[in-house]
Amino acid sequence: MKSGNLSRRKFIASTSAGAAGAMLSNAIPAFGSLNGGAASELAINGGTPVRTDGWMDWPIWDPSDEESMLTLLRSGNWYRGDGHKCEEFESKYAQLIGARHVVATASGTTALIAALHTLGVDAGDEVIVSPYTFIATYNVVFNQKALPVFADTNQETFTIDPGKIEERITDRTRAILPVHIFGLPADMNRILAIAKKHNLSVVEDACQAWLAEYDGKMCGTLGDLGCFSFQNSKHIPSGEGGAIAGDNDEVMDRCFAYHNCGRPHGATMAGLRNYHIRGSNKRMTEIQAEILLSQMGRARADADKRLENALYLDSKLKDIPGIIPYKLADGATRSAYHFYPFRYKSEYFDGIPREQFMAALDAEGIPSYSGYGKQYFDGLIEDAIGSRGYKRLFSAGRLNRYREEIRNLPENDQLTREGVMLFQNMLLAEQKDMDDIINAIHKIYENRSQLT
Ligand SMILES: Cc1ncc(COP(=O)(O)O)c(C=O)c1O
Repeated sequence: MKSGNLSRRKFIASTSAGAAGAMLSNAIPAFGSLNGGAASELAINGGTPVRTDGWMDWPIWDPSDEESMLTLLRSGNWYRGDGHKCEEFESKYAQLIGARHVVATASGTTALIAALHTLGVDAGDEVIVSPYTFIATYNVVFNQKALPVFADTNQETFTIDPGKIEERITDRTRAILPVHIFGLPADMNRILAIAKKHNLSVVEDACQAWLAEYDGKMCGTLGDLGCFSFQNSKHIPSGEGGAIAGDNDEVMDRCFAYHNCGRPHGATMAGLRNYHIRGSNKRMTEIQAEILLSQMGRARADADKRLENALYLDSKLKDIPGIIPYKLADGATRSAYHFYPFRYKSEYFDGIPREQFMAALDAEGIPSYSGYGKQYFDGLIEDAIGSRGYKRLFSAGRLNRYREEIRNLPENDQLTREGVMLFQNMLLAEQKDMDDIINAIHKIYENRSQLT
């Protein structure tokens, strides 16, 4: 083992949670003294990488699933009307997350569309949305011909800042759509209180938050409805897939009906004529459900492993100047870690841009992702609000104010420049593999002068 490596291992053993606070204060500490100022050539410049082993592939499946998949294939019962896999999945997922009802859908996007539609989000309405999210959260609001109104992000928690919500509420606002991004629970107590005060619905975008917890309850079960994704990269994957969770019988019957072409469903719609409400086809297939029934089996153990490794990373990374791990929002009890997020402060790294830091990290054998950009400037907002329909639905004055609002998201803008995420499958490895991550970041910090 190279001496540089040895000293980085020593760094891991020698740093303590107690030393952390001081390290992240205003002054840039002489951190190198902890390991004797280890000098080592960065891999991006031709040095030996900290890690040469790869990371585990995703998704993971159990070969014992092959027989049941083959049986399903040969049965030809791939549609939920001809089988019971979707129903079985709905009941087991409801049990897993502690919801009274679950409706399985084709995807997370279709789950969100069905949820917003069922709660009455209609053309010309406004929905308060977290700007720091996958683009689907914006798209589902546009799908309803409503306006996604962004409340700024709390950059420490990566989630919507409840203190910024009320200033964005208008007489058109119908719902709040908080996102538990990366599995980090949004500050639901404050969001639910605001919703109650203004008589708004709350749809949780829990598409990255399986088994995340807020106040001891599962994310996706706190608002009026919660939506999940089971797309291939997700912790419970089935290629594509989604679910809506909720406790209200009537609302959930209507979600089911909407996702099944408007056909009445359940006791609360008994006796209604066949196509009594508007609907769509957003059904999950039996094939998706079969995969999910198997994938759900490993979800709890995987979640515990990710948590264990994430807490270990927290305890070590916070001691490296300029690396600020996520903070849980008030009341949040457990993240799902769809990514392990931290903020990179380039001023502690002699001004080296985030992208260069990430390239150096990648060369050390640690891949990362820069997260979401300023998507409200990508063109989709103008594409929507410049359209004939939106000009009919909203006054020119409102649309101009809206354009101003998206220029006033300072914390979100900063987060889009500073976020760095580690992939969820990396958190399924062992503690020694987490040490590679810590050592690689520390090596870059110590040898940052090689990048300028
Ligand atoms: C935060 C968030 N919302 C919504 C979605 C949409 O889910 P799907 O891709 O299953 O349609 C995703 C998927 O990545 C997501 O991450």
